[in-house]
Amino acid sequence: MVWNAPSYQDQFSYVWQHGEGLLSQLNPQAGERIVDLGCGTGQLTAQIAMSGAEAIGLDYDHDMIAQAQANYPQLNFQVANAEDFRVPSPVDAVFSNAALHWVQQPEAAARSIAAALKPKGRLVAEFGGKGNIQTILTALEEVSGQNNLSPWYFPSVGEYSVLLESAGLEVIYISLFERPTALGEAGLAGWLEMFSQRLFSNLSPSEWFELVKAVEAKVPQLYRLESPLEDRKARPTEDRKVKNQKGGWIADYRRLRVVAVKI
Ligand code: BEZ
Repeated sequence: MVWNAPSYQDQFSYVWQHGEGLLSQLNPQAGERIVDLGCGTGQLTAQIAMSGAEAIGLDYDHDMIAQAQANYPQLNFQVANAEDFRVPSPVDAVFSNAALHWVQQPEAAARSIAAALKPKGRLVAEFGGKGNIQTILTALEEVSGQNNLSPWYFPSVGEYSVLLESAGLEVIYISLFERPTALGEAGLAGWLEMFSQRLFSNLSPSEWFELVKAVEAKVPQLYRLESPLEDRKARPTEDRKVKNQKGGWIADYRRLRVVAVKI
């Protein structure tokens, strides 16, 4: 898969901005060696490095790594696949934000993560969990007439715990939670173009345009992305204001956050 790295960096900054909470959970320490797995354009790798840790940013997309290197020439970025990456010597932590749902062989990725860690080294990761973007997926499937469209890995708490334990990691924290996510200026059309257009490579530009319009029409009509979220009195988020004031979109993201330690 090929990413449009400049467009990703310009329009999808919310991806790494949401990752800043996960950095607190990582709590990187000066002198530690930490892999940022699926580092994208490198913004969180740079924040890890600011702690004094040695940060190694890995991503399987060449354009993302080129952009990360241009952004932070002093840092170490390399093209690598989560499923088979290797590090020259074991690291203190593997950090991963919004990347592991792209992995096609999650068992292989878990084995690579375990192999990269020192004993007692930690995995701190967050990505799409069970039910993530279900509203968008359902609308895409209905509009396109295709079933089982998702190329993504969105596991449950139980499924992912078993997988990590099988790879030799002890799960010490895991949580699946809703995180309504404002899609910013790019909106739903921009999100679909960046993340799902590749699923419809057979469509002409005008057919793609029609599909996007149909999904946009279907999502608020049938599923109303914002409605269930607006019912949540506990979450008076800025996200909702974006929708209400600017006619923006909020996606039904569900995150799986996990901390696991190599046994
Ligand atoms: C996510 O961050 O949950 C996500 C992003 C793009 C496609 C699928 C999921």
